[in-house]
Amino acid sequence: MRWTLWIVLGLFPLVDGHPTLKTDQNSLETADAALNHQNGSLNSVLHLDDTEKAALETTRDDPAFPMKELNTSHYPATRAAKVAQHYLNYHHGSPSKWFMVHAVKKASSEDIPEVGKKYHIQFSVQEQATKEIVGNCTAEILFRQTEVQSAPEVNCTCDDLLKIKTSDADHALYHHIKHQPEPMAGMDIPDSQGNIPKEMEPLWYLGGIGASFIMWQQSNESTLYNMAHVHSVKQLNSENDLLAFEYVVLLHDMVSQEIIHWHMQVAWNPTQGVKVTQCHLLPKGTMKQPSAEKHKI
Ligand SMILES: *[C@@H]1O[C@H](CO)[C@@H](O)[C@H](O)[C@H]1NC(C)=O
Ligand SMILES: *[C@@H]1O[C@H](CO)[C@@H](O)[C@H](O)[C@H]1NC(C)=O
Ligand SMILES: *[C@@H]1O[C@H](CO)[C@@H](O)[C@H](O)[C@H]1NC(C)=O
Ligand SMILES: *[C@@H]1O[C@H](CO)[C@@H](O)[C@H](O)[C@H]1NC(C)=O
Repeated sequence: MRWTLWIVLGLFPLVDGHPTLKTDQNSLETADAALNHQNGSLNSVLHLDDTEKAALETTRDDPAFPMKELNTSHYPATRAAKVAQHYLNYHHGSPSKWFMVHAVKKASSEDIPEVGKKYHIQFSVQEQATKEIVGNCTAEILFRQTEVQSAPEVNCTCDDLLKIKTSDADHALYHHIKHQPEPMAGMDIPDSQGNIPKEMEPLWYLGGIGASFIMWQQSNESTLYNMAHVHSVKQLNSENDLLAFEYVVLLHDMVSQEIIHWHMQVAWNPTQGVKVTQCHLLPKGTMKQPSAEKHKI
C-alpha cells in the first residue's frame, strides 16, 4: 500500500497540475482522494500489487499457469528436491555412487487446476562416497491430485552428474561379492554408535538406492523421507547374473516424524543397475520384539 501511495504521489503533480509535493498524512490522503476521482485505467494500473505484477510477468514467459517463486530453504522446495533426489538415485545410483541434494538454488511452483502442483527446482548434487559436489540439476516434479497415493512424476536432467564413472568400482565390487564363499549378510547399519564397517558400506549404499525407489513412490507434497537405518540385509541365491539382496529398512518421514519399516528385495549388476523387485510395508510394531522376528521374513 505504501508503495502504491508513493507512486500516486509521484504522479500527483502531473495529474493535478500542482508542482509542489507535501508528504504529510493529509496530503497523502488528498492525493489519494484526488486520484480516486480520476476514473479508469491510470488508477487501476497503479494499484497493481506485487503478486499481480508477478502474475503478469510470468504469463509473458509461460502462458500455462502463474508460477510462484519459492524460498529455496523452505519445506515446499526441499521436499520437492528430495523427491528428485530419490528419482535420480534409483535411476543412476549404484553401490559406489549415492547422490544427495547439496543445495537448492532456485524453486518455483505452479498450480495446475484439476491436475495438481508442479515444482520446478534447480539444485546441486553431492556424491556421498567422494563427498564431491558433482553437478547441477534441473527437475520438474508433478504431484497429482489423486485419491490414492501415486508416485510423483519427475523429469530430471543434470550437467555433469552422469559423466561420473564408477563402473570400475562397480565391477570390482560385483566380482568381490560374487566370489565370497558365503552369502553376505549384515545387521544394524549404522550401529548404535553410528559406525558403518567398511565392508558393509556398499550394502548400505545399495539399501539407500533401493529405499529411494520406495521413498519416491511413497512421497507426496507433505512428506520428507530419508533412509534412517538398514535393520538387516542378506544376500539371496540368484540364478542369473544379478546379485540379489533382501533388506529390512527404516524410513524416516521428517514431517510426521514417523518411522516406517519396509521389506524389499533389490537386484543389481553393473550393467543393468539397481532394481527393486519386491517391496512391502511391514506392520507397525514388527520391529519392537527383536527376538520374535528371527523367523524368515
Ligand atoms: C528464505 O527463508 C529464510 C528463513 O526463513 C530467510 O532467512 C531468507 O531471507 C528467505 N530468503 C528469501 C530470498 O526470501
Ligand atoms: C554448478 O553451477 C554453478 C553456477 O551456477 C557453477 O559455478 C558450478 O561450477 C557448477 N557445478 C558443476 C559441478 O558443474
Ligand atoms: C516430462 O517431460 C515430458 C516430455 O517433455 C512431458 O510431456 C511431461 O509433462 C514432463 N513431466 C513433468 C512432471 O514435467
Ligand atoms: C502423504 O503421505 C502421508 C504418509 O503416507 C499421509 O499420511 C498423508 O495423508 C499424505 N498426504 C497427502 C496430501 O496425500
